[in-house]
Amino acid sequence: MKSLRLGVNVDHVATVRNARGGIHPDPVLAAHLSVRGGADGITAHLREDRRHIRDEDIARLKAELAVPLNFEMAVTEEMLAIAERTRPHAACLVPEKREERTTEGGLDIVGNRERLVEPIARLKAAGIRVSLFVEPELDVMDTAMALGAPVVELHTGTYCEAVAHGDPAAIAHELARIRRAASHGALIGLEIHAGHGLNLENVRPVAALPEIAELNIGHFLIGEAIFVGLENAVKAMRAAMDEARAGRPT
Ligand code: PXP
Repeated sequence: MKSLRLGVNVDHVATVRNARGGIHPDPVLAAHLSVRGGADGITAHLREDRRHIRDEDIARLKAELAVPLNFEMAVTEEMLAIAERTRPHAACLVPEKREERTTEGGLDIVGNRERLVEPIARLKAAGIRVSLFVEPELDVMDTAMALGAPVVELHTGTYCEAVAHGDPAAIAHELARIRRAASHGALIGLEIHAGHGLNLENVRPVAALPEIAELNIGHFLIGEAIFVGLENAVKAMRAAMDEARAGRPT
C-alpha cells in the first residue's frame, strides 16, 4: 500500500498574527509543531498582497525545516524570482485573484497552456518540483503531463462543499471526478496530490483513493488547533487519513 503524506498549510497562523501585527503566533513554530504531530511537509502561500505569509516567513521556513517546503505561488514574475532564489522543495502553481477570500478553483492549464511553458521550465531548471493545482478532469491530467509537470494537486473544494451541503448526488459526482482524474493521472505518470477544504468529516473518501500520494490541508487544522492544539489536530487528521487508506472504518 502506498503511503499517504500530509502537508500542513500554515497560512492562517500568519493570518491571526497579522490581525494584530507583531510576531505572535509564529507560522514557523506552527510548522515545527505540525511536524511533531505527523506532518510530512509544510505548505505556505505567499500571496501577491502578503495578507498572511510574508517573504521572511518563507525564508525562515526554508532555513529551519527538515521536511519539504511546498511553496504555493501565483504564476507571476515576482513569485518566480522568489522561488528561484529560495529553492523550496516544491512549488505549487495556483490561480490568484486579489478579491478572493481563498483560492477559488484550479488553475486553467488547458486555456493557459502556452503561458505556463516557460515558468514550469524555469522552476524545473532551479531544481524545484512543480505541482499544478487543477480541477480533477481527464484532459487537465493530459495537459499537465504534456507541460512536463511531475505533480498535480487536485482541487477538492467542490467535493467538500457538496459534503457541507449534505448533497449525496453531488458528493458522489464530485468523488467520481476525483477518482477518475486520480487514476488517469497516475496511469500516465503524474504524482497525484489533493487539497482544499478538507476536514475530519470529509477527508476519508479522498484519503482512501490509492493513487493519491499527498493531501494538503490548512484552514481546518489551524482552526481546530484553537480547541485541541495544533499537534493534536494534526495527529487526529493523520490518524483519519491512515485509517481510511488502510480501509479501516472509523
Ligand atoms: N492546496 C492549495 C493549492 C490551496 O490553495 C489551499 C488553500 O490555500 C490548500 C491546499 C489548503 O486548503 P484549506 O486551507 O482549505 O485546507
